[in-house]
Amino acid sequence: MNIIIVKDALEGGKKGLELFENALNNGAEVIGLATGSTPITFYNEVKNSNLDLSDKISINLDEYCGVANDHPQSYHYFMQKNLFDVKPFKESYVPDGANTNEEEACGAYNTILEENPIDFQILGIGTNGHIGFNEPGSPFNSVTRKVDLTPATIEANARFFESEADVPKFAYSMGIKNITDAKEIVLFAYGKNKQEAVKSLVEGAVTEDFPASILQNHDNVTIIIDEEASALLK
Ligand code: PGA
Repeated sequence: MNIIIVKDALEGGKKGLELFENALNNGAEVIGLATGSTPITFYNEVKNSNLDLSDKISINLDEYCGVANDHPQSYHYFMQKNLFDVKPFKESYVPDGANTNEEEACGAYNTILEENPIDFQILGIGTNGHIGFNEPGSPFNSVTRKVDLTPATIEANARFFESEADVPKFAYSMGIKNITDAKEIVLFAYGKNKQEAVKSLVEGAVTEDFPASILQNHDNVTIIIDEEASALLK
């Protein structure tokens, strides 16, 4: 695992752009994307760059269930506003949270992933070690499926909704296997509230109780963290 410690999220976004440009220069075609507050500085750098992504494919990690694609808190909407409006891809895939047929929605997504292996995957990390919405206990061999969000995640995401009661309780999420199948992975984490998660990610046991720990076994992972998030590392 390569570790890059930066001053702040702004510098993290710039580092992320460098790694992304390298990957594109080396032929990356399929880009795995993430939502949340953390990747925003990276997306801003991409938006301000000269990159043309109109012949690339993007595949997002997850989407809330029961939320229309044009809902302001949907991940479809997030991606549109934070990246695609300025940098459109040839094709962009986000799980169809509006489709109540779980088998159909997840099956279709797994087929997309099989047909388009991810070259470069962006990740954030939850304070509980989730990547995508793979909450603690998610099997390392999991693929896209419907998942229950834990109370910790619902609480963490309540800031985006009017109240905690409005946060969806389920999501469709790429599985751990889909994520670790990516050739290269870049994970961002910033701030004091990610200190414990970063410590477990880098120095903890590899266990399904802390899903992100599986990244220790991947041969091309870079984590970009700020000084605060790195404070507990040995
Ligand atoms: P955040 O979410 O970037 O909003 O902290 C990260 C995550 O839950 O994966």
